[in-house]
Amino acid sequence: MPMGRLSSFFSLPGISAGKKGAVMIQEENKQLIDKLHAQHSLTKPDWITLISNFTDDDRAYAADIAREIAQSKFGNRVFIRGIVEFSNYCKNDCLYCGIRRSNGRAQRYRLTDDEILSCCAEGYEIGYRTFVLQSGEDMTYTADRIAALVRRIKADFPDCAVTLSLGEREYDELKQMKEAGADRYLLRHETANQQHYELLHPAAMSFSHRMRCLHDLKALGYQTGAGMMIGAPYQTAEHLAEDMLFLREFEPHMIGMGPFLPHQDTPFAKEPKGSYELTLFLLSLCRIMLPNVLLPATTALGTIHPLGREQGILAGANVIMPNLSPTAVRKKYMLYDNKICTEDRSADCRFCLHQRMKAIGYEITVARGDYSDD
Ligand code: 5AD
Ligand code: FES
Repeated sequence: MPMGRLSSFFSLPGISAGKKGAVMIQEENKQLIDKLHAQHSLTKPDWITLISNFTDDDRAYAADIAREIAQSKFGNRVFIRGIVEFSNYCKNDCLYCGIRRSNGRAQRYRLTDDEILSCCAEGYEIGYRTFVLQSGEDMTYTADRIAALVRRIKADFPDCAVTLSLGEREYDELKQMKEAGADRYLLRHETANQQHYELLHPAAMSFSHRMRCLHDLKALGYQTGAGMMIGAPYQTAEHLAEDMLFLREFEPHMIGMGPFLPHQDTPFAKEPKGSYELTLFLLSLCRIMLPNVLLPATTALGTIHPLGREQGILAGANVIMPNLSPTAVRKKYMLYDNKICTEDRSADCRFCLHQRMKAIGYEITVARGDYSDD
């Protein structure tokens, strides 16, 4: 079992404590972390204080608590989900995303239903029991088609969960896919602040539609994932505070949270990447706030730092989502520059993660890993 202070094993660059004086701030921050632990919520000013001024010590303090909570719920087990990135066509034009419609340099591809099925078969062989079907917003995959695909996957692999990550869809479509057997749906809210949302997305996209979609997913009985990028352009501590308040209230079953990373062919090409340390800190705070939540150490976290995913687990995450896409298309599903694992085969990632988790005292479990309230 990993012991108490493993999180500080790999030391990280310091963060300045600003003008108040490190000791005072640390006391205040530790009290806020204790309050979050005791009450599972904080006020907006509390969140802003924590997010805008924290030290490595605060981070280690939160990570220790978060890791203990995760250990008490999941032991030293990490769930894996295999992601099949089946199409990079997208009708949307999110300013941050490498597969946005206006990126004429993206080489577009679509997998056939049979190709998707064979990714699942390969995944099943190497121990995956959740398949995440992920794509841009590609309407050639109609609800009928996705429903049929879900039925085939469920027929071939009855002991597996199917997660969809297709972007925004209408209620009836979501209902049809749920009735076909889909178990979970990932749709990051991206930001809980409407003005911020509008700075990250073109006018054709709407904050209220995204929020409605998230509520539809929950109402339909999907295990639902929300989440945001840390350090997205224009993001302030206040926005992140609003994200944490939103997550508290919405209570998603999963939270997908990784650093923003620029993509060279987007309007945000020259924007700075998000903070690795703040991402880890917020992962810990999410675990403390929502102890049962399924919390991945994301691919973006593994991209921003070579040990990001390990550090994410040590900060309280309990899920890893490796790629199950055919190696030939991996480089084309580039949401941001330098994405990891694009040269690897599915079995390489599976083995690599086994080793990486073992190295920090954790093990990958092949259990489905559904959300549980206990
Ligand atoms: N950096 C980090 N994450 C990104 N995503 C999209 N583009 C980027 C980027 N440049 C995230 C979004 C989206 C998810 C699929 O990937 O949050 O919801
Ligand atoms: Fe893909 Fe390590 S997880 S190569």
